[in-house]
Amino acid sequence: MTQPNARPPVCDYEGSNYRTDFWEGQGRDYEDRVERIALRKLLPPTGRRLLELGAGFGRLTGEYRGYEQVVLLDYSRTQLKQAQEHLGRDDRFIFVAADVYHMPFKAGAFDATTMVRVLHHIANPETALREIRRILAPGSTFILEHASKRHLKSMVRYWLRRQSWSPFDLSPVEFVELNFDFHPDHIRRALNEAGFDIRRRIPVSLLRMPVLKRRVPVSVLAGIDALFQESGLLLTPSVFVGATAQGGTVDNTRVEDLFACPRCGGKMIVDDSQQLVCDRDGLRWQVRDGIYDFKAPLNDD
Ligand SMILES: C[S@@+](CC[C@H](N)C(=O)[O-])C[C@H]1O[C@@H](n2cnc3c(N)ncnc32)[C@H](O)[C@@H]1O
Repeated sequence: MTQPNARPPVCDYEGSNYRTDFWEGQGRDYEDRVERIALRKLLPPTGRRLLELGAGFGRLTGEYRGYEQVVLLDYSRTQLKQAQEHLGRDDRFIFVAADVYHMPFKAGAFDATTMVRVLHHIANPETALREIRRILAPGSTFILEHASKRHLKSMVRYWLRRQSWSPFDLSPVEFVELNFDFHPDHIRRALNEAGFDIRRRIPVSLLRMPVLKRRVPVSVLAGIDALFQESGLLLTPSVFVGATAQGGTVDNTRVEDLFACPRCGGKMIVDDSQQLVCDRDGLRWQVRDGIYDFKAPLNDD
């Protein structure tokens, strides 16, 4: 489903059963395991405020337990509600419904950000990456996972003429509406242009094949994958990138420094009814059931 305005379209998970339709009992223990291995290789184990972009139902949020505060952002309120249930009550978590392209945060508010299985749905990665760079403090870590078009299976299919698009050219492939595979060098270039230095790129999910997953124990597949990750050969359907926001470091730990109006960038204040109000354009944003909701203001005419 897409948005009826000029903003980039959003792949809307509102009301979806992503957790049970895609993960639980769906034979993806291997993918889950190797993604966690790659994340641990790239992410500093401890830190202050981490932003998980497109957090979904919080599948990976447990990986961030070394952070003092974890902000889960997702466009889907229902995914965030599932994340609340999944994670249980813990004041370290802040749940925010908003769009990656227009985030309600101040510049430099975070010292780490992760985005896994989300770029896949982003029609305009350049715009999204610039916005992500804006909300990251200089010197901070960004871990980005993206689906890659340049993997072994797509190469073989291309050489056998069973696939029309080339895995080698840099343009993205939209194989289903708002589902994109990207060339690793396209994303490398977009990250550099958005103001990131790339530290390391890790190939992930080399063995994502139903026949192997049926016949070989997950621990064996994950062990082989972990070794292949060290090769750096980007021939897999998933790539994890560890990047650093360019510039020096700043202090960004105060809670009142977290939010800014997603429309005008103005300062947000909490009013008597505990809603957030922008002191520049007067727009009011609701806080309901523990979710800071920036999808639409309460008083938009
Ligand atoms: C495939 S799920 C991945 C969830 C989680 N990162 C994981 O790996 O389990 C993609 C998530 O990205 C969210 N999403 C997609 N486009 C978004 C956007 N423009 N802004 C915020 N969230 C978005 C969806 O709502 C969904 O929860």
